[in-house]
Amino acid sequence: MTSSSRAESRAERGPERSAADVLASSFGFRSVDPAEKGRLVGAVFARVARRYDLMNDLMSLGVHRLWKESLLDWLYPRPGLRVLDLAGGTGDVAVRLLRRLEGRARVVLVDASPEMLRVGRDRAMDEGWLAEIRWIAGDAQAIPCPSRSFDAVTMAFGLRNVPRIERALAEVLRVLKPGGRFLCLEFSRLTLSALEPLYDAYSFAVLPRLGQLVAGDAASYRYLVESIRRFPDQETLARMFAEAGFSRVRWRNLSGGIAAIHSGWRL
Ligand SMILES: C[S@@+](CC[C@H](N)C(=O)[O-])C[C@H]1O[C@@H](n2cnc3c(N)ncnc32)[C@H](O)[C@@H]1O
Repeated sequence: MTSSSRAESRAERGPERSAADVLASSFGFRSVDPAEKGRLVGAVFARVARRYDLMNDLMSLGVHRLWKESLLDWLYPRPGLRVLDLAGGTGDVAVRLLRRLEGRARVVLVDASPEMLRVGRDRAMDEGWLAEIRWIAGDAQAIPCPSRSFDAVTMAFGLRNVPRIERALAEVLRVLKPGGRFLCLEFSRLTLSALEPLYDAYSFAVLPRLGQLVAGDAASYRYLVESIRRFPDQETLARMFAEAGFSRVRWRNLSGGIAAIHSGWRL
């Protein structure tokens, strides 16, 4: 294709949309208004909350635990750290962090879903960590916390669900203290393309069936799979971090790129 025919076909398609714009208007493979996306995502987590932790173990065969431990390894938390676990859901990352530090951290957990927060509080009560976590219902795009108040922000499998990623990144930067760090664990792109057919078959055929069987809900798990495919790859997300103002942006692939951890500093 010549450069002029490329320009013509771009003109026919309309202006190029940024990765952020594509994500803001994608609910899985469906195109929706960004405000509608927030509502639909909220409905998904309201439906899956009760079975969320069990489904995570079944779907990943327990590997999500190792990924979350890798996130904490990279964070290398010290006692006394003030941490925000954003889109913290049922508190899996928050509780793992508290266990590592034997409770010597101050953790705030913000999540948009009252149902996920309710399940998390019950679980934290059972495990003896209720008082160590402040549970706040709130949106990652408008974090209900003061500026420069955290040494670290963690976010596991949350960013993909947020309509305007760039707003969430700006908010994370705002609430971090200078010298503070953001670690984001998300599904990403396989580094070995030979594994793609197997991964696709598992994602599109097995996961929604498992969702139907265990949680009586195939649609929510279809959303999960589709939203992973819509999420920016490692390089694009790193660029978005840098554009938002994060410094020393790096990432680490997990399980051949099925997931990745992105790290950025507020300097
Ligand atoms: C896949 S769960 C991850 C939960 C937890 N971080 C974990 O790894 O187990 C995604 C979470 O993101 C939350 N979420 C979705 N959109 C959000 C938003 N705009 N702001 C804050 N939380 C959001 C959901 O309510 C849900 O609890």
